[in-house]
Amino acid sequence: MRKFLSLFFFFCLTGGIYQANGQTIRISTHETDLILKVAQNGRLYQSYLGAKLLQESDIAKLPVYVRGGTDGSVSTRGWEVYPGSGAEDYFEPAFSIQHNDGNLTTVLNYVSHQTRPLDANVTETTVLLKDKVYPVEVTLHYISYANENVIKTWSEILHKEKKPVTMSSYYSSMLYFQAPTYYLTEFSSDWAKEAQMSTQPLFFGKKVIDTKLGSRAAMHAHPFFQIGLGQPVEENKGDVLVGTIGWTGNFRFTFEVDNVSNLRILSGINPYASNYEIQPGEPFVTPEFIFALSTEGAGKASRNFHQWARNYQLKDGKGDRLTLLNNWETTYFDFNEAKLEELMKEAKDLGVDLFLLDDGWFGNKYPRVNDRAGLGDWEVMKSKLPNGVPHLIQSAQKAGVKFGIWIEPEMVNPQSELMEKHPDWAIRLPNRDTYYYRNQLVLDMSNPKVQDYVFGIVDRLMTENPELAFFKWDCNSPITNIYSPYLKERQEQLYIDHVRGIYKVFQRVKEKYPEVPMMLCSGGGARCDYEALKYFTEFWCSDNTDPVERLYIQWGFSQIFPSKAMDAHVTSWNKNTSIKFRTDVAMMCKLGFDISLKELSTEEQTFCQQAVTNYKRLKPVILDGDLYRLVSPYETNHTSVMQVAPAKDKAVLYAYDIHPRFGEKLFPVRLQGLSPEAQYRIEEINLMPGQKSNLPANQQTYSGDYLMKVGLDVFTTGKTHSRIIELTEMSH
Ligand code: GLA
Repeated sequence: MRKFLSLFFFFCLTGGIYQANGQTIRISTHETDLILKVAQNGRLYQSYLGAKLLQESDIAKLPVYVRGGTDGSVSTRGWEVYPGSGAEDYFEPAFSIQHNDGNLTTVLNYVSHQTRPLDANVTETTVLLKDKVYPVEVTLHYISYANENVIKTWSEILHKEKKPVTMSSYYSSMLYFQAPTYYLTEFSSDWAKEAQMSTQPLFFGKKVIDTKLGSRAAMHAHPFFQIGLGQPVEENKGDVLVGTIGWTGNFRFTFEVDNVSNLRILSGINPYASNYEIQPGEPFVTPEFIFALSTEGAGKASRNFHQWARNYQLKDGKGDRLTLLNNWETTYFDFNEAKLEELMKEAKDLGVDLFLLDDGWFGNKYPRVNDRAGLGDWEVMKSKLPNGVPHLIQSAQKAGVKFGIWIEPEMVNPQSELMEKHPDWAIRLPNRDTYYYRNQLVLDMSNPKVQDYVFGIVDRLMTENPELAFFKWDCNSPITNIYSPYLKERQEQLYIDHVRGIYKVFQRVKEKYPEVPMMLCSGGGARCDYEALKYFTEFWCSDNTDPVERLYIQWGFSQIFPSKAMDAHVTSWNKNTSIKFRTDVAMMCKLGFDISLKELSTEEQTFCQQAVTNYKRLKPVILDGDLYRLVSPYETNHTSVMQVAPAKDKAVLYAYDIHPRFGEKLFPVRLQGLSPEAQYRIEEINLMPGQKSNLPANQQTYSGDYLMKVGLDVFTTGKTHSRIIELTEMSH
């Protein structure tokens, strides 16, 4: 009974319909407050979003900003939390629908809210809003993670009109800011050019970042951004918002600076070609918008995101990761059992955990000997691999490594048995020429039969080969020729239902195979969102493994993703750089190799083996430590990052000289995140066999205070030169 009563009070069901003014809703982490208030007009407004307020009593003093109100200059701000179209706010609305009578307006009033703990650290808040005139309601959802300082928010739209209503926009969330200046950092991309950062000021009007690619959706723009409030984003100082949308399809961010210089940030699905019809009584749930607000620059927000992802979002976020050897760059499509077995032995020699067989192992009638045939026919190719997958697994076991496999199950080549049997399963226009991207088409995931088929690919491989220890799930084509034979006259639902269909499959796979690690891949890193990563342990950052390029790509992705989610392989891209440099760059993420040992000298092989041993020893710091970005490759000819174990007793420091100038003045690198009182022993690792460290501080001991204030001389004037340094706290 007592439990019931306390639950009853905790749930604090508040407010009555349309008479709820004065209600305050506080959504907090340990460092951020988002305060919503109900105004006299009964509608819900954002009153505050910023650093956590220390005095509870101050919250009552926060103003409510109502557009067109009578209380002076601030009245023009109008920060309605989820404005529909057609009210007195003339800027981009959070959602727009057309009612059964043709009316295009929606005005939402506060009805009630609930707050409940999901665990000691996580709180869920829901707010119900309703239109007085039409039977339309929106539930706003917020989940706040106190320690990680991250908030997730999304909306659920529901109507009870007689016939379906059509929505022309349906953002997940809208946030407001006021600062003298705004700077947007965006992450543009292309094949082999992922996560390129650029910054621009935002002035009056709109800036939109969106994608219309359908699948492989983040190929040109990644679904995350940073906003510097009052100054461009800096690493360690200033107010920064980092936001991301969890949607593996077309997304849209709209940044709008209004007539009185407020910044409005709208995040959600891109409604492009997607005027979505919702049936009466069927909720439309928008994807999660996830954000962290930092008063100490982007570095802090990144660490918040990393911690949150490991604790709550990534598949097996707290678990270990497998080092691997992939065959793709060594063999491409040209392999047989003997070649693979050779590589499995090399994987063992290298010391990695797993051998990953890439593209080209399937298709018989239309063998997958290049990228023009076979996709869709997931039968092992008898001519190449006469003894099938079970034999390969046995060979791997015999060599002493695990075995993983590549699939691209959402795609089909026109030259395939699948296409012959089910031409209506592909997204393709019935009345125009077909445009192929990488000679393939996207399967129609809105069709439940296709979902079953795609799930069945993984399920069958796993049932027949329960020892399969890893999947690489690829997605190389955007949606071309947008038309779903399944949806017929409901074509405007395809972009969204396709993605929802993918999630249904991901969910089934995760439920049935919760332990199997999976790499998300999309022609490199074109799938890099936190909804997909609920189902994947990691993602392939880029096909570009040139270590110099990778320094930028990894710097970009690290803004939002933890090292343990970012796959980095040592390959033969940019052979002008040493194997040490290539390995040292991959070491800061989840390490793998995609190279044959035969390409390497004995010395280089020994180096790689030692690097793998070092990596395995340091995994707890590399994969689960706090990342500090110390020197940016965008600002200097060098770059440096470090990872610090949660207990601060161990750290790994990485220093890279990219293209220093002759006689360039070198500055010491000041470390971060250490404990000032502790003494740390410095040890350069990953040295070539026989090489002696020439790091001045090598094998010396320094206080954390010294290292953070004075720093270490780690850079050189050598081109593509690198150092990895292990710091160990000395016991007293
Ligand atoms: C994509 C991936 C590569 C490789 C090929 C295989 O391009 O990004 O890593 O798997 O497909 O076709």
